[in-house]
Amino acid sequence: MPDLKYPARAVDKVIMFEWKNEFAVNIGSIDSQHQNLFAIGRELHAAMSTGQGKSVLGPILDRLVQYTSAHFAYEERLLQLHKYPDFAAHKAQHDALVKQVVAFQTDFKTGKISMAVPVLLFVKDWLEKHIQGTDLAYVPCLKAQKVA
Ligand SMILES: [Fe+2]
Ligand SMILES: [Fe+2]
Repeated sequence: MPDLKYPARAVDKVIMFEWKNEFAVNIGSIDSQHQNLFAIGRELHAAMSTGQGKSVLGPILDRLVQYTSAHFAYEERLLQLHKYPDFAAHKAQHDALVKQVVAFQTDFKTGKISMAVPVLLFVKDWLEKHIQGTDLAYVPCLKAQKVA
């Protein structure tokens, strides 16, 4: 771990992209994708906390958008394959989340927002709430069909 001197801002105490066991869906591929999303969140947080500019934050945000879309597509394929009954609602949530992250990305690129605190809060919030509230709901369905 590099010795990062975080400025004592309240937001740093609130935003921690820490993986916790309660986020585990116990499906290997999905847990590792979720963990990668947390890792990108930590990168974004570290870059912001050390005052990095657009040239550093922009590419991390781009990766977040790409990885999020790829993860959602993966999850949706799996849910469709196993005929998850709440597929439509789950996909609608994914679509709304992608739309919001892409909007942040656009605002950031066009200079409408200069820093990514709202982005960080949004990403942290969706990672935790979507995983715990929505992703965990498909686990019984997939487990019943022996998805590991
Ligand atoms: Fe999901
Ligand atoms: Fe997910």
